[in-house]
Amino acid sequence: MTEIRVLDETQYRAHHTLFRGTLHYAPAPDELWEVVRKSYEPGRALGAFADGDLVGAVQTFPSSLVVPGGAVVPHAAVSRVGVRADHTRRGVLSALKRAQLEGLSEPVATLRASEGLIYGRYGYGVATRGRTVRIQRARASVPGDPVGRVRLIDRDGAAKLLPEIYDRIGLTRPGAIGRWAGWWEMNIRGAKPDEQFAYAVHSGPDGDDGFVIYKVEHKENSKLLQVYDLIAPTSGAWADLWRFLVGVDLVDEIEAWLRPLDEPLEFLFAEPRTARTTEVEDETWLRLVDVPRMLAERTYGDGDPVVLGVTDRLIPANAGSYLITPDGATRTDLSPDIELTVDLLGAAYLGGVTFTQLAAANRISGATANADRLFAISQSPWCGTYF
Ligand SMILES: CC(C)(COP(=O)(O)OP(=O)(O)OC[C@H]1O[C@@H](n2cnc3c(N)ncnc32)[C@H](O)[C@@H]1OP(=O)(O)O)[C@@H](O)C(=O)NCCC(=O)NCCS
Repeated sequence: MTEIRVLDETQYRAHHTLFRGTLHYAPAPDELWEVVRKSYEPGRALGAFADGDLVGAVQTFPSSLVVPGGAVVPHAAVSRVGVRADHTRRGVLSALKRAQLEGLSEPVATLRASEGLIYGRYGYGVATRGRTVRIQRARASVPGDPVGRVRLIDRDGAAKLLPEIYDRIGLTRPGAIGRWAGWWEMNIRGAKPDEQFAYAVHSGPDGDDGFVIYKVEHKENSKLLQVYDLIAPTSGAWADLWRFLVGVDLVDEIEAWLRPLDEPLEFLFAEPRTARTTEVEDETWLRLVDVPRMLAERTYGDGDPVVLGVTDRLIPANAGSYLITPDGATRTDLSPDIELTVDLLGAAYLGGVTFTQLAAANRISGATANADRLFAISQSPWCGTYF
């Protein structure tokens, strides 16, 4: 019999050790644990117990999510999901997910999935995707003149300044999420002492307006600059940061992972084939916890009204019909034009997949062109924050 309990601070380290074990990592050494410890907050870590032993773990971090139209909505970032190998495939994760969904105060949750088959059953759909790009530095040049200046700062400076800059400029594109203090702690302070991360900040006419975190890896015969975090919502800061990266000496190639699908690198460099896409993968798995609220939080484009009929196996309060018009979304008694499960609505919510695509894949049927017009957004949704 599995029992699900909210964990207290005396149990956080065991929770973290269990989670790392499910990913085949050793327990965090003391100095790393001192950093990780700060990412635990009361009420957010759940454990599954069998015969008194902790055998499963889930956790959330407090965050926010930008939705189409620009509203910033409270959001739970779900992470540290794992079930001990001797207790898998007997419903432990399902019990944890049920308890987690029941306990969430945020209307939306997102996660990153280790495998594609796990989370659809719990109502999560792929809402954003990203591409990995590779750039041969010898071929890369960015025409035009810089609009601002790029300066390198040290790790202490980054720990202080980057969260401030991100809070000011990071929450613009649909899919972007608020970064919690523990995220910054893990991603800046959690780096191993021998890892040589570089932190570069861009300032434009109105002050600091972008940054990049990167590291150069020394391979046998080449040096690869890996971009971990590049946030620059204005085209000037964005172009200057890429111009800076391709100017870093003693680098053969640059790789940037999970970049926005519509990042116009092919038009930035003088030679359009400079940046090659080497992979496209799912980024945000999104779960609408409170469907009526989330449908009301986003804005809609022009288009004839559409009625969506939503089903939700785990949160029956979400089930029903919703009338979507250019003015907003409300519950209705009208019969649906399109029927869909909550994971598919989660996938379409930020505009990352169209209803027409879902119909082409035989996942839905109905008046998809109208729904596409209503849900369309001008930028690819993208998160840019890995957790
Ligand atoms: C993924 C994991 C948490 C699943 O835990 P679990 O307790 O075995 O899951 P459950 O028994 O509750 O399974 C629920 C359902 O999901 C399916 N499922 C679970 N994990 C799956 C996987 N990796 N691939 C395919 N299906 C999976 C089960 O078959 C079951 O299907 P059913 O409802 O049709 O019977 C566990 O395998 C694990 O810890 N893996 C390693 C760490 C990891 O990947 N964590 C996730 C990080 S995002």
